[in-house]
Parts: sequence; structure tokens; C-alpha cells
Amino acid sequence: MRYLIPALLSLSALTVAPALHAALAKPSPILTTPDALDTQTYARPQVARVTHVDLDLAADFDAKVMRGKATLDILALRGAREIVLDDKGLVIEKITDARGKALTWTVGASDETKGAPLTVQLGTARKIVIHYSSKPDASALGWLPPSLTAGKQKPFLYSQGQAIENRSWVPTQDSPGIRQTWSASITVPEGFVAVMSGERLTPQGEVVAGGKRRFRFSMPHPVPPYLIAIAIGDLAFKPLGPRSGVYAEPETLARVAPELDDTERMIDAAEKLYGPYRWGRFDMLVLPPSFPYGGMENPTLTFLTPTIFTGDKANVDVVAHELAHSWSGNLVTNATWPDGWLNEGFTTYFENRIDEIVYGTERAAVLADISWDELQRDLKLSKPSATKLRVDPGEEAGELAYNKGATFLRTIERAVGRERWDAYLRSYFDRHAFQPQTTAGFLADLRKNLIKGDAALEAQLLPDRWVYEPGLPGNAVHVKSQTLAQVDLAMERVKSGAPAASLGFEKWGTQEWQRFLNGLPRELPAERLADLDSAMKLSTSSNAYVRSAWLVLAIGNRYQPAIASAEEFLPRVGRNLLIRPVYRALVAQGNWGKPIAERIFAGARGNYHPVTVSAIERVLNPAA
Ligand code: BES
Ligand code: ZN
Repeated sequence: MRYLIPALLSLSALTVAPALHAALAKPSPILTTPDALDTQTYARPQVARVTHVDLDLAADFDAKVMRGKATLDILALRGAREIVLDDKGLVIEKITDARGKALTWTVGASDETKGAPLTVQLGTARKIVIHYSSKPDASALGWLPPSLTAGKQKPFLYSQGQAIENRSWVPTQDSPGIRQTWSASITVPEGFVAVMSGERLTPQGEVVAGGKRRFRFSMPHPVPPYLIAIAIGDLAFKPLGPRSGVYAEPETLARVAPELDDTERMIDAAEKLYGPYRWGRFDMLVLPPSFPYGGMENPTLTFLTPTIFTGDKANVDVVAHELAHSWSGNLVTNATWPDGWLNEGFTTYFENRIDEIVYGTERAAVLADISWDELQRDLKLSKPSATKLRVDPGEEAGELAYNKGATFLRTIERAVGRERWDAYLRSYFDRHAFQPQTTAGFLADLRKNLIKGDAALEAQLLPDRWVYEPGLPGNAVHVKSQTLAQVDLAMERVKSGAPAASLGFEKWGTQEWQRFLNGLPRELPAERLADLDSAMKLSTSSNAYVRSAWLVLAIGNRYQPAIASAEEFLPRVGRNLLIRPVYRALVAQGNWGKPIAERIFAGARGNYHPVTVSAIERVLNPAA
């Protein structure tokens, strides 16, 4: 009991403090329930928290560093003497107050993933200026040489902040529960364009000394700091509709823009479901192939891998997904990373509702059925404790959170009916807009506003089982697709020896191929693989999803011709979810495959973003 008293005192003091500072900033609440404790930050936001970050940085492509200063606005308890920030390898020159008076600061012991605490002695200062640069190996930043771009003439830079990487280039409190507004002024060499995940105030940039160009940005809504994102390169823009458009290298733009022409319809569909889009524009940036994810929901500027552009719009569900994060994730944000399913599970559900409105029920069923397959795969591969939606502290929500989370929400939808469920979800986003959310907070909201004491409904839904227990509850809803049922028939015919050329695969898109390749028996004789390969041109497929699924199957059978295909594919694509399974398949083949994986990775690692490098290193060397 004793120990609670100081904590309560500081909490009540904090509830007073925002009122005093209301004119300066409107910080959204820091949750104080025990399950909102973020163990992946050093920040102590109950004592002092950042409310606004202003960046004034220049990109140095030769040194591979961002250099300049960050000015932080701080809200602190009256009497608070210091603030703790997150720092992953920043090179700090000096820290001052707003008038330029030097402040004392220290960097504590460093952890490989979390970085180190940066403690600044504030005195009475409530605004501080940090003069610093990032390190060339900053874990958020991908510095690409010209050879890894489409144009091959100019280098390229992009950031990936989620989950805890932004502390390697932005000195702030890097926790999803500590929302901050931000602004930025970014200076780039002549001939480059900078874009960021906020309002783009100077789309053409302003010329400054030495022919350089300065681009200014502003994010007026408080956002979790993992959503601060930047890219600099030879970028062109093509409008898609009144509030959407696409940035890409000029060489890439014409090819990708037509596949994004349903974007406005997606935004309209999303708004119809769950309320207004609150971020102004929804533009997209297509990155070079080293981008480590399918997409990243950076506000106003979703980042996309080029691997989704297969010429047939088969993968624009990724666009629907990142758009859906504008509600689930960016508006209502997981308070800590073990609550990640609140971002990804909600988004995977919401994404499918958008797909259904824009492309119809069968198309949505195809995507939901594939999601079910992935869920079954992940349930098999994961250790039981990792199959809880709310993972234990210290563990990170994995791929399972996407599809188990979506299945949970679909199960509720079926139980209460769409009308009631949609009304609930819409009000949920409104109630918690621009705030962090915990798993317990969601369940409390669900009980208060949907279940409302209906014991029979509670027993039908089993919310605690879904969220806190491993595995899949018996009430899970599986959406089945007619289209994929046809593919299953083709799969059966392969098993009974039919030649690949007779299977009728000519019109298949990504999902049909995924169903087929992932559904075939894992053990196949070399002649069967050779027949499939020659009829379906799998080893040379330009569809990266097909290539990935094929390589996993082929490598699992030590099918020699797949090696040349892997040698070509793995160094060229940096999307984690497509290449990690291939490296895993090689490593699973022990003495036959592991040396091949090591050799390919040695040549490819320089092409990957730092987060992909560490992910593949963990595959090759699980102990580390
Ligand atoms: N926010 C995620 C990407 C992410 C997750 C980055 C975890 C860092 C840590 C993004 O919205 C996402 O889920 N991307 C998916 C695509 C989606 C359609 C499943 C991906 O990367 O493939
Ligand atoms: Zn996502």
C-alpha cells in the first residue's frame, strides 16, 4: 500500500498539469493502468513527456546521416527536474534550452534493441533543443545506393519507424502511448525531393544556399512517434483523385499508378463504414524493392513495397489494409506493442470490409479464406504462448495477431449482426480517437457498449478466451471462397498425377497461386516439381508472392533448379514476409541448405533495410 502513494500523488499531479498547459498543447492521455506499461521505452511520461517535436535536419547522402536539431516541447510535473528520452545510437553534440543555454545530459547503458535512456536535466526549461546526427547504421534508415533504385542515378533514403526504430534518428520518447504533434524542415541536395508522413507544406521545396532544397512538413494531430516517416529521392507525383495520389521514382510511376485507381473508392468505403477520414490526404509512396514490409501506414503517406504491383490489382488489399490503419492504429493506437493485435487484427478485419464494398463478396471471401489459411499455418508454427492475441510482455505480436484478431472481430460480427457491430465499431473509433488503447480497455469498452451485461452473448462470444488464451476458440468463423474451392480441385488432380499443363491455371492471381502452392503436399518427387515448374514457369515468375511460395516448396524438396531462382530473387527483394520463409526453408535443410542461405545472405545483406538484416540474421543464427 505504501508504494502506491507516491505513484498516486504523481498521477493526480499530472491530471492538473495538462489544464495549465492547455493553451500550449493538448496532449492526449497517458494511460496509467498496469497493462499500459510500455517496457520498450525508457521514458517516464508521468513525470515529463514530449508533446511536440520540431525537426530541422539535413540529409547527407555521402556520410549517410541526418544532421541538425530537434526542438522538443515538454509537459512536466511542477518540480520535475529531468526528462528521459529514447536514444538508439544518436550522436549528440549539445542540448540547450530555448535560449541556447547548455543543459546537462547523460546517456545510460545501451540495450541492443531498445537503445539507451537519454536523460536531460531540465531545470525550469520546458522546451529543449538537441543538436545531433544519426549514425550511418541507424536502424530506422535505409540509405540506398543508386544501384538499388529504379533510376540507378541517385541514392535514396527512407525510414521505417515501427515498432521502436525511430529513436535511431529522432530523439524523443518513442512509445506508442506518448502521442506528439510534429513539424519538420528537411534540407536535401539539389535534384532530390523529400516527403514525410504529414502535411506537405512545400511540395516543390524552397531553394536555399548552395542550390539545396528545403521541404517543410507539419502534423497537427498528436500521433505515436513510430508514425514519423521520411523518404528522399528522385520522386515524382501523380494525382489519383481529389484526396489521393502516388509518389514514386519517375521510372516506376506510370507502371504503378493504374493499379491504384480504386483508392478513392476505398477511402469512400472506409468512411461509410467507420466514420470520417481525419488525416486530409491519403497519398502513397512506392519504394524501391528493399522496403522491408508490404506496406506501412504512415499518416497521409502510406509506404508501399513495389512487390504488390503484379499488373492485375491482385494485391491492392495491401492498400485497403494501410488505409484501414487510418482508424485502427493511427486514430486508436495500441498502447504497448504486446497490444499490437488492436492495430493489426482490427485492420485486417476492416481491410476485408473495404475489399467487400469495392470488389464484392467473392473477392473478399478469397482474401478472408487466404487469411484463414495463414492463421492455421501460424497456429501450427507458433509456440502456444505466442498464440494469445494479447501476447505476454516482452513478446511481440507476430503475424498471428493479424488473422486471429480479424477472425475474432468477424466472429463478433456474425453473432450480433452487421448493423449492430458496425454501429459499435464506429462509435468505438470516435470514443477513442487520437488515444492509446490497451487490450483490457477494448474489452471493457466492448462490455460497456456492446455486450451490456447480456450473459448469453458474453458466453457466445468468449472474449477472454479469444484474447488471453492460446489457440482458436470453437466459435471461430471461417469464410470459404468458391474460387479457391476450384483451386483445391486442381490441387487434388496434381495429387492423383494429372499433368500441370492440364490444370487451368492461366487466369490465376496471387491468392489462387498461394492456395495452390501452399496447399500441395510438402513432399513431392523431383519429376513432379519439374513438371509444375516447366508448365507454370514458377522459378522465373515475376510475381514475388508466387516466387516466394514456390521456393519454399521446392527448397523443402531439395529441388536443385530452385537454387538459381533463389539466388536471383533473394538479393533483389527486401520484403521480410516474402524472403524470410525462403531463408527459413533453406536453413531447415541443414547441411544442404544452410550454407546456401549463408552464401546468398552474405551477398544480399547490403541490399536490405536494417530491420530485414536483423530478421534474417535471427533465422540464420537463432541463438543470437
Ligand atoms: N504496420 C504494418 C507493418 C509493420 C508491422 C511494421 C510490424 C513493423 C512492425 C503494416 O500495416 C502491415 O501490416 N503490412 C503488411 C501488409 C498487410 C497487408 C498484411 C506487410 O508488411 O506485409
Ligand atoms: Zn498493418
